[in-house]
Amino acid sequence: MLTIIVLTFLAVLAWAIVREHGKAPRKDGKRLSQAPGALPFIGYTARLLQPRYKLLDHLAHVQAETGLKTFEIPSPFLPPTILISDPVCLEYVFREHEIFAKGTFFRSRMYDLFGMSKVKAISGAAKLEIKGNGILNASGSLWHSQRKAGVKFLSIANVARFSNETLPPLIEDMHQQLGAADSNGGTIDLQDILLNLMSKFFGLVAYDTVPSADLVRAFDEASAWTDSRFMNPFWRLYEALFGQSLRRALQTVKEFGHKVVTKASEKASVPGRETLLDLLLERIPDKDTVADAATTYMSAGRDTTAQAMTWSLYELSRSPEVLGALLENLQPHATTTRSGTLRTTDSHLSYIKAAFAEALRLNPSVPLIMRETSQECTLPDGTILQPGTIVVWAPYAMARSPAVWSKDAGDFKPERWLSYDASGHATFMPRSASEYPVFHGGPRICIGKSMAEVVGCQVLAELVLNWDFEVVDKEGRRHVGESLTAPMAGGLVVRPRRRI
Ligand code: HEM
Repeated sequence: MLTIIVLTFLAVLAWAIVREHGKAPRKDGKRLSQAPGALPFIGYTARLLQPRYKLLDHLAHVQAETGLKTFEIPSPFLPPTILISDPVCLEYVFREHEIFAKGTFFRSRMYDLFGMSKVKAISGAAKLEIKGNGILNASGSLWHSQRKAGVKFLSIANVARFSNETLPPLIEDMHQQLGAADSNGGTIDLQDILLNLMSKFFGLVAYDTVPSADLVRAFDEASAWTDSRFMNPFWRLYEALFGQSLRRALQTVKEFGHKVVTKASEKASVPGRETLLDLLLERIPDKDTVADAATTYMSAGRDTTAQAMTWSLYELSRSPEVLGALLENLQPHATTTRSGTLRTTDSHLSYIKAAFAEALRLNPSVPLIMRETSQECTLPDGTILQPGTIVVWAPYAMARSPAVWSKDAGDFKPERWLSYDASGHATFMPRSASEYPVFHGGPRICIGKSMAEVVGCQVLAELVLNWDFEVVDKEGRRHVGESLTAPMAGGLVVRPRRRI
């Protein structure tokens, strides 16, 4: 029996290698070099099965050692795959977004969470046709209409309204939770607090409802399972055998989507105060698609922003001098901040914007991104790719590249974002999307960037101005947990003390 399994395995390997050889990426007339650390036959398969943070650390190491070179990531279980690191190549990928599309490899793995699929079959009702696709998984006209609705939802006026009206009471709740922990000398997980705050915030502005704890748990669980599909070549078999909790989680998420869409479609929207659902329903006739489009934002906006704030607080806790400079910079403007009118465009707030950008640079909420070529093309560095090639880049590794960020690339230094004039006034200096791909770039750049910055800086300012956090397990290294985004594994447990 064992012999049969081993022979079948070897036959599959040989078949995969022969099949893919003709489609392999090439450069200078030869097959592209393999990324360092590939093993004979299985290539990167074992690395892809490791916890995500180990793969990210390995890629950061490769990049620091080899500069901006493009490599093949070999695995008999993957289509031809390359890793790019050069901002020039990435700029080309951003610009040519129709050549570097989401592709079937990505979409087939994301479909259950971000597209409409087997929900009704799970619930025992008639099977639905597969039609929807949330914005992260969509292309063509479906992507266009969702993007238009999203851009309107995230207009400057709306973001200001959310930050002035929706956020302050939630921040007040957060202070009370921290106050309770402070008065009984207990500890509290800041990541939980921030995810909770962002769930309520998002629920209110996007769906006009506060999502239940069950929904949030289900979403996190489905997100972790979906992420593991990119690492585990046998995910279909694995899920068929052990995916009961995934199926339950998906059902909860989908049922929430249907419930909020039905409610929104029965209610007249208020002009100038439309929710995301109202704007999607105006443009997309199919309610199932609207449900997918809307729930996609839970991952796109809620998780990313809450995690960015968590990592920012972690970085600040490790850099007392940066925290001191931040407090000095914020204290004169504390009243403005408390009234919820903080704007990251205000020039006096350059320092907190720089600290947030810097924490995100080192801890990007989407640490690994991929696209799939829809036609043959040549990257600016001369690498020739056949259709169906997976192109991967790791913002986490790129941030640690001395070639882009100089020798101190791995250090948390908000100053690298600031330019000071003769009077000592600091101005925030943005970097190009291809050097700082944290929010993606080109026509599919993140539409929530300014909301993330406004909300992230407003909440961070409130926290650092009012609280001193003693991190429990200060010495233990934090790393990214298994998810589509970048949660801090184990959370950020602190002992809060109110600042006098
Ligand atoms: C720190 C916070 C955030 C980070 C780091 C971030 C990062 C990103 C990245 C890397 C992408 C590209 C993903 C891909 O195509 O594979 C993206 C897309 C997107 N983001 Fe964000 N994001 C953040 C916050 C938000 C917020 C607050 C919202 C909404 C309120 C949002 C909405 C979206 C949407 C709708 C897309 C899809 C755009 C498209 O495909 O056209 N994001 N984001």
